[in-house]
Amino acid sequence: MISLQDWQRHLGAQLAAVSDQPIQEARWLMTHGLGLRSTELLINPQKVLTPTERAQLQTLLDQRLSGVPLAYCLGEWSFYGLDLTVTAAVLIPRPDSELLVSLALMESQVEDDLQLLDLGTGSGALALVLARERPQASVFAVEQSPEALAVARLNGDRIGVKNIQWLQGDWYTPLDPNLRFDQIISNPPYLASNDPHLPDLQHEPRTALVAGATGLECLEPIIIGARSRLRPGGRILLEHGCEQAAAVHTLLHDHGFQQVHTHCDLAGRERVSSARSPDHA
Ligand SMILES: C[S@@+](CC[C@H](N)C(=O)[O-])C[C@H]1O[C@@H](n2cnc3c(N)ncnc32)[C@H](O)[C@@H]1O
Repeated sequence: MISLQDWQRHLGAQLAAVSDQPIQEARWLMTHGLGLRSTELLINPQKVLTPTERAQLQTLLDQRLSGVPLAYCLGEWSFYGLDLTVTAAVLIPRPDSELLVSLALMESQVEDDLQLLDLGTGSGALALVLARERPQASVFAVEQSPEALAVARLNGDRIGVKNIQWLQGDWYTPLDPNLRFDQIISNPPYLASNDPHLPDLQHEPRTALVAGATGLECLEPIIIGARSRLRPGGRILLEHGCEQAAAVHTLLHDHGFQQVHTHCDLAGRERVSSARSPDHA
């Protein structure tokens, strides 16, 4: 007879091999795997698990012990207060990207006519925050992977935002040619194909991570395309690797952008660059 409490202890002990917060992870896997509220673990710890429930937990535990990120095991992840569905088709939204979206919100006015664009939307994380925080704005979210875009749409439906258009294709190509934006934001793939961190990221889609030989192969077309897609005075905000700020500045300056700034995360790493449209006098 194995109880909830027994399994929670068992999971915690096993997860210590792959996690620095095994107790918390055990709780999440239990509640998710069994469809319980977290309070039920406290209220009814002696409840005996059925063989089916034990098998469900064992499957989740095996996945996690084999190195599958917790977010994919749970199928859900939290970003900027939103609970998002995540599958192996999308990058797991990172706390790092909260810097990008916070800056975008700080820079955007609360106006009726705002047009905002998120390039490479993945799970829809950034676009959904913008749409929720700027309900009067029209948000456009572009994603090349149809599988990822399906996850983003699902998240949009679950959260219930109405002011996003989801578009599938290569950066600016699926957009109406007449559209112009007040803000273009992107967290594009920016790793170089030989980046030493890639083995640790093997469960996430390579197309969401790797840009090409130098790591700048996505940032560059996004910057070039933004020249003609921003309204006068419009802003571009780009997440990038902490060693890419100088290269991104050069690209922005070379393509006529003004007021080029780098923004650091709480650890002081240069993670976001922003600039103003070249059209602004
Ligand atoms: C680093 S992920 C970012 C996902 C999401 N915006 C986030 O911050 O969590 C980059 C995304 O860009 C998408 N992508 C890659 N190349 C693209 C392209 N040429 N056009 C549109 N999207 C692209 C990838 O499929 C991936 O979903």
